[in-house]
Amino acid sequence: MALLLSPAKLVLLAVHLSVKADIDSLTALAARHGTLFRKDLILRIILTYLPETLQSKKYVRFIEQLETGAFPETVTAQHIDYSAVEALTDDEAAKKVRKLHLLPLNLADIPGEATDDATTLFLLRRSYRVDEEAGLLDELPSLLLPFLDHSPCIRSLMVSTILPLLRRNCEYYPQEPISYTLLGFQQLPDRVAVNLLLSQTGLREADLALVGRDLKGMVGPWLYNEKRWKETKRCQSYGSVPGPQDGDGANDDLCPGWEQVLQWLTAHASKNWKVAVSAIEQWDGPGDVDLGGWSVMWLSDQEQDHLEQSYARAALASAYLIPEASVKALEGAYSIVAKITSLLDQDPASPLPSSLAMLPPLADQITGTITSARNAAYMRNDLLVASNLLTSPSKTSTTFLRALILSALLLTRAGSPCTLRRAGELSLLRDEREQKSEANKLIHALGPNTDDKFWIKARNEILWLRDWGAEDGTSSSDDQPKGVFSQLKKEFLEVEILKALLGNTRYTLARSIYEDSTDHPLAKIVLQDTIYATAMTAYDNASNPNRTRGGLKKCDEILKAFPKTIEKSAAATKKIEALLQATHALAEFRLVLKQGEPFTPVVLRVHTDPISIIGKILEQNPRSYTRLHDLVDIGSRMVQAGLRAHEEVGHGVISAPEQELTQRLTAERRIVAMCIDAALIEDDFETAYSYVVNRLTAKPISMQSATVVDEYSWKAALQAGKYRRTGQTVRPTHLGTASGNPEIRHLEQRIECLAAALRIAPAPTLQEILNAFRRAEEELDAAVKAEAEQEDAWDTAGDSIHTGMPGGFTPPASFNKHPATATAKPVTSSSRRHQAEEAAPMSLFNLSRASVMSAQKNLSALSSLQRSAGLMGGSGKNTTAEEKPGPASAIGSDGEDGHQQKRARKRDQLANAAMGTLVSGVGWLISAPAPPQPGTDRE
Ligand SMILES: *[C@@H]1O[C@H](CO)[C@@H](O)[C@H](O)[C@H]1NC(C)=O
Ligand SMILES: *[C@@H]1O[C@H](CO)[C@@H](O)[C@H](O)[C@H]1NC(C)=O
Ligand SMILES: *[C@@H]1O[C@H](CO)[C@@H](O)[C@H](O)[C@H]1NC(C)=O
Ligand SMILES: *[C@@H]1O[C@H](CO)[C@@H](O)[C@H](O)[C@H]1NC(C)=O
Ligand SMILES: *[C@@H]1O[C@H](CO)[C@@H](O)[C@H](O)[C@H]1NC(C)=O
Repeated sequence: MALLLSPAKLVLLAVHLSVKADIDSLTALAARHGTLFRKDLILRIILTYLPETLQSKKYVRFIEQLETGAFPETVTAQHIDYSAVEALTDDEAAKKVRKLHLLPLNLADIPGEATDDATTLFLLRRSYRVDEEAGLLDELPSLLLPFLDHSPCIRSLMVSTILPLLRRNCEYYPQEPISYTLLGFQQLPDRVAVNLLLSQTGLREADLALVGRDLKGMVGPWLYNEKRWKETKRCQSYGSVPGPQDGDGANDDLCPGWEQVLQWLTAHASKNWKVAVSAIEQWDGPGDVDLGGWSVMWLSDQEQDHLEQSYARAALASAYLIPEASVKALEGAYSIVAKITSLLDQDPASPLPSSLAMLPPLADQITGTITSARNAAYMRNDLLVASNLLTSPSKTSTTFLRALILSALLLTRAGSPCTLRRAGELSLLRDEREQKSEANKLIHALGPNTDDKFWIKARNEILWLRDWGAEDGTSSSDDQPKGVFSQLKKEFLEVEILKALLGNTRYTLARSIYEDSTDHPLAKIVLQDTIYATAMTAYDNASNPNRTRGGLKKCDEILKAFPKTIEKSAAATKKIEALLQATHALAEFRLVLKQGEPFTPVVLRVHTDPISIIGKILEQNPRSYTRLHDLVDIGSRMVQAGLRAHEEVGHGVISAPEQELTQRLTAERRIVAMCIDAALIEDDFETAYSYVVNRLTAKPISMQSATVVDEYSWKAALQAGKYRRTGQTVRPTHLGTASGNPEIRHLEQRIECLAAALRIAPAPTLQEILNAFRRAEEELDAAVKAEAEQEDAWDTAGDSIHTGMPGGFTPPASFNKHPATATAKPVTSSSRRHQAEEAAPMSLFNLSRASVMSAQKNLSALSSLQRSAGLMGGSGKNTTAEEKPGPASAIGSDGEDGHQQKRARKRDQLANAAMGTLVSGVGWLISAPAPPQPGTDRE
């Protein structure tokens, strides 16, 4: 009965069965009416009417059977339900068939070669439709896989288009699919397609582990398509190694999609290096492809070679492009170079940790012009071009890169971050200043650390950074070091290392390397200089002036750490020792130089006037003037330490020891003067007086001091001479041999001070001192007179008391030694009384200023003075009068009066003393004998 149906009805039935997706019946129909249903007719019906949503496995067998034309026995037995078309007339059926609008198998826009094979065409068209109409991309493999070998076209679609897209949209990133149909995607320009495939790769930190998968699973398959390659260019580029002249443009175009992959890689290296590193770590390059088991590699050797070389180049470029100066980033760079080394079948690079530990000798493997300065630009530009030596895959380029990575890593790990590119610039550009600054930064970053092993390692690393492990002996002299510190002398680095060792108190280690070792990394003189300089650095860094602590202790220890190099007796050692002593001595005092800032040792060292610090001590430490000896000692050590007021520097003619002696004396006098001033400020006249008498006058002034301009002593003496007793004045603790009348005693002491001032003051100042002297003298006169009058009154009253009061008061003989009882009755010598009774005689100090000046200078005047002084003191023997009239004879006339043969008046005694000092002050010039000591005439 079925045999009666017209072809039109059979076609309609086939359409009907297709729409119902009744594959079994359809199969039977096709099998039974093979002559009617030519393959292409039934395929067009299926293409047009079989629902696209139907699972592939439901009809793929049928397609296969159609293709082979061999239907199994069971199929022919299948019952077919013809009822759907039986009722139609043949005309109706024919009309309906004309309206079927069966889709053609051929399509102009279908890429491909198999234009005449119906099955192939069907499969392609069906694939697009399933994707477009049903969105069932994932149904396509089961449709196409049985036909992979049917046509290269099918395989190519399947492997290089559907597989990547399927993975991208359905497997890897189903949340972010590419919004293109299969056909649309297939027709995209290569570069756009690659970018879309990789658009999600490595976006999230968690996806980093999957970057390699993406490249293997999407890029790899995608490349396996003849259409990705440009035929014409291929022919040009193959056959020869790409040179600078061909290369760039041609290679770029050879496989644009691949070039895009490389650009994707390098772009990530600079903006998200972890992605690039993950990619290279996880992907062995274009040969490392996951074709889902659906195909095998079919690229030509040349193509393969091009891909591998360009991949290696891009990988090396990526390493250079990593912009981050972190250990992680540099480790990433190292893993890149290690990977490329192995991909290029070079000797494997040792693992990073062992490289860092062993610091391999890389210099000798870096040959040719790769270290030329002009290659520096290649770290920024043209990274992928063939002429770029840095990224051209070769033993030299990978070794150079390794050396740079290790260098940057050593720097970064030590705490001085350095990018790979920076390391490259240091090495290639050889800018000494840059290298030096980097070396200093590194060494500075090393501390603080007190582990000897750490420092041994650090030293090895620093030296390696200079020459990258070049053999010292073997390299010829013109063979420059290639490392990042190539321009720095080894000595410079050793010095800096030594400083760091000392700075970190690694004294024993420093000694063992630089003093005890047989190879003597530093010349002795350099070693010495460095040790001194470092000791001073430690000193300057100290905050506490106590030499048993902190920086000063360090300074001390550094000097002692090199017994064979630093001799105790060396001038420089002594100088520093003096400095330490001076500073340490300051620690005992309270000392603030600037508001709120406690004193630090360096202040002493750089002070423009270090002795003035003693003045601060005196101001800030009550009664510290009593420690005159200590303070003078500090001053002396300051001088020994070479500290001096800046204007003093450069006394040309005087030899150094002489100069130092001069300075010490100057310092001593100045400090004594400061102490005198301080004592006066604290109203301790007695101490000031004793300093004037004992320190300013008692000490004979030596020859050398002639060159010293001493503007301190006379001022202090004058100051003491001007001091007036007040209620605050510290009371003397004992009176010694002086007068029991405190006022008179005080005036006498003042006059003594003025006499001292007179002796040592420069000529232009004498008048001022003389004025003060005269006023003091007048006061003394008045005081003596008053005392005498009072004494008389006592005497008068005393008689009556003695007579009127039995057991009355009798002053003891030694009364004037007991000031406590002085108020009972003023004690005086008869000389004073005597004096009071007489008219004021001619005073020495009626001398005019000019005459005193000439007296100081003029030898004849001096001898006259001396004679007069001698006369007055009663110890001089020569009495020959001076012919010349003048001040001296005026005095002489006083002396010649002959009034005072036995008991010199006190007042004259003083004048005598002053005169004596005046003479002695200049007397040494003419080798005159010392004047009599004051008080020798006293009974
Ligand atoms: C300087 O002193 C500080 C503390 O005062 C110390 O931490 C540092 O290590 C010292 N530097 C040197 C170079 O001695
Ligand atoms: C210096 O420091 C030590 C302890 O380190 C202390 O015993 C000594 O008194 C200090 N000296 C001065 C002058 O402060
Ligand atoms: C000495 O000086 C005093 C006071 O200045 C004066 O009274 C006296 O007349 C002077 N004597 C002579 C001799 O000039
Ligand atoms: C000493 O001084 C007198 C006058 O005061 C003068 O005539 C004489 O030349 C001076 N002698 C010397 C050596 O300067
Ligand atoms: C005193 O003068 C004589 C010569 O007239 C001289 O020999 C003697 O040394 C002088 N004595 C003194 C202490 O100047």
